[in-house]
Amino acid sequence: MPELAYVNGRIMPIEEAKVPINDRGYHFADAVYEFISGYHGRLFAFEAHLDRLERSLRALSFPPISRDSIREAIEKIFQAAALDNGGVYLQISRGVAPRNHPFPINVQPQIIITVRSLPETPRAYLENGIHVITVTDIRWGRCDIKTVQLLPNVLARQQALDAGAQDAIFISPEGVVREATSSNLFIVKDNTLQTHPLTPNILPGVTRGCLLEICREEGIPVQEIFFNHHTLLSADEVFITSTVAEVLPVTRIDGRSIGAGCPGPLTQRLRTLLETQAGKTDSINKK
Ligand code: PDD
Repeated sequence: MPELAYVNGRIMPIEEAKVPINDRGYHFADAVYEFISGYHGRLFAFEAHLDRLERSLRALSFPPISRDSIREAIEKIFQAAALDNGGVYLQISRGVAPRNHPFPINVQPQIIITVRSLPETPRAYLENGIHVITVTDIRWGRCDIKTVQLLPNVLARQQALDAGAQDAIFISPEGVVREATSSNLFIVKDNTLQTHPLTPNILPGVTRGCLLEICREEGIPVQEIFFNHHTLLSADEVFITSTVAEVLPVTRIDGRSIGAGCPGPLTQRLRTLLETQAGKTDSINKK
């Protein structure tokens, strides 16, 4: 099945999809997005993604867009692609207008959706964990809004790759550990999870939310607190969470080994629990 695109109501092969050069997403990054995964034909945490999308649209003062129409559009393209495990990317820009900073009058938001196979996480990352570096967070003060202005994230990820690592973790100028370039971050210390609280400085990850819910159900203690680089390096376990990575162990940070140097037991348990909740477990067992 070819990759599909949906542009303002029409579904087409991705190669045929075009966006006007006056799209404000292109000029100003004046656009929000979501990435949703689907396993065995079912979209995971769909309503939570729609909740966050509505929040992002409101935060940027976009005109109201019917939640039902977005839900229907996503379901339509996801079903048309008929992928077993697919990833849906949705982007809504403020609209198309000649380049000028103020909000344009009488323009319609532009909705594009693409669907493609979900990237497989390399087995080595799951078995051995990933290596990360830490970088100073130079992003803006509203990282809780899921906008497409991701240049600091792109630069930090590339810096990590150039350093032979797989990802970078943002640290605030004051030394607070925030999140990774496209995922939230958790540490385990004495069987308790710690993660940055929800503030404007991190994205309220849907996977983060699912994991906190799982921890409540399983009686695993979680603290949403600020912690620094030293606490990060002395953690028993570290992992990141996102729609793409799910729960991914981190075993090396800034060249130093974390805990036992291999994925920890709580990380592995939480990955399995999340896979079960996402309805993905069957495909794992089949491998
Ligand atoms: N990224 N933090 C940042 C900065 C992110 O970009 C993401 C998601 C997350 C995790 O959010 P969620 O659990 O809802 O996926 C945290 C997406 C996947 C991306 O940019 O591709």
